[in-house]
Amino acid sequence: MKSIFAKKKVLIGVTAGIAAYKIHFLIRNLIKKGAEVKVMMTPDAQNFVTPLSLSTLSKNPVITDFYSQDGTWHNHVELALWADVLLIAPCTTNTLAKLANGLSDNFLVATYLSAKCPVMIAPAMDLDMYAHPSTEANLTKLQNYGNRIVPAEEGELASGLVGKGRMAEPETIEAYLEDYFYTSDYHSELKGKKLLITAGPTYEPIDPVRFIGNHSSGKMGFAIAEEASRRGAEVILISGPTALQPIHSKIKRISVKSAKEMMEEVFNYYEEVDVAIMSAAVADYTPKVVADQKIKKNDAEFTIELIKNPDILKTMGEQKTHQLLVGFALETQNEEENAKGKLQRKNLDFIVLNSLQDSGAGFQKDTNKIKIFTKDQEVFDFGLKSKNEVAQDILNLVEEKLKA
Ligand code: CTP
Repeated sequence: MKSIFAKKKVLIGVTAGIAAYKIHFLIRNLIKKGAEVKVMMTPDAQNFVTPLSLSTLSKNPVITDFYSQDGTWHNHVELALWADVLLIAPCTTNTLAKLANGLSDNFLVATYLSAKCPVMIAPAMDLDMYAHPSTEANLTKLQNYGNRIVPAEEGELASGLVGKGRMAEPETIEAYLEDYFYTSDYHSELKGKKLLITAGPTYEPIDPVRFIGNHSSGKMGFAIAEEASRRGAEVILISGPTALQPIHSKIKRISVKSAKEMMEEVFNYYEEVDVAIMSAAVADYTPKVVADQKIKKNDAEFTIELIKNPDILKTMGEQKTHQLLVGFALETQNEEENAKGKLQRKNLDFIVLNSLQDSGAGFQKDTNKIKIFTKDQEVFDFGLKSKNEVAQDILNLVEEKLKA
């Protein structure tokens, strides 16, 4: 699939913050995905990173002043008109104040004032500066002018202090850019639709410290949630225990542990959603009795009696009214037959089959290889792809079915 960044013109303004070193990663990724990138810097930013490294990565000359040493004048108006989007990252407190108040004492801020394209600002500063009322007021003012803010994140700062002020990670900034391009030039059937996605494993408690779980990482479900959110859907992500965090701030993430909790949360939302994609690896059985206290060992054998968990997806299939319902099947043998059986038994619109026999597919991996079976007897066979691309394939089919 063609990248949303293909041929997009991204103008990046770099100011004098230590986070400037991270911009290299962003530029490299944007170029890889087919974007055209031009960079301008404030004079002080050159103390942190060099124009040479940025021009090498962006494949364009880097502008640091109104004039080059050879006397050439740089046209800030022309550059601002060239861009599809202007990103100022990292944006220091000083530049932020200039942008908010219309000061124009360097090339970067003059270009900002001339820009007609959308502007994104990723602030980076120390925690007290970030929390200062004047910074808050400047950010609010810039937002009210129509600029988009990529909020600073929590973490260790260059000062050694820990708090909010770090520039958002390059991949988060990229997600904001992607969001903008998706909503500006791509009509998705998912725009404005409500999606429910489950992800990750479930943990079935044995006692206060032990559980029965599985190796699901949640990566597939999270990738679907990110992609759906990028396409403008309202996403409710119900996830079992996982270390992952959604990148898109608009995703509503609900954390659960057991299958029972997942079932409760799913049915809190099922009625109101347009599409439900159930990628969680739900435990089929749970201990009949959960001990109040940690179970102590002794010399005897130890047996846990298990009872059946509710089949969440099957219940959803039984109660389906208007929803498009998608299930997953993870199989190790008789894959196709088992997947088709689940498609029918659970009253699904389609089922995504992962086979653990495919190397590169399955739990914990960043790649997956899927086959999709639909209730209309269609079969789609995909090659080994990144989980992000697999998410795109799944959602492309969801869009097709919504259109039909
Ligand atoms: N599923 C569910 N509730 C369960 C078990 C599974 O909602 N208690 C859902 C999964 O999220 C997945 C689909 O059902 O979308 C198939 O899950 P899978 O574990 O492959 O199948 P099972 O129905 O559990 O059958 P089996 O374990 O016998 O293969």
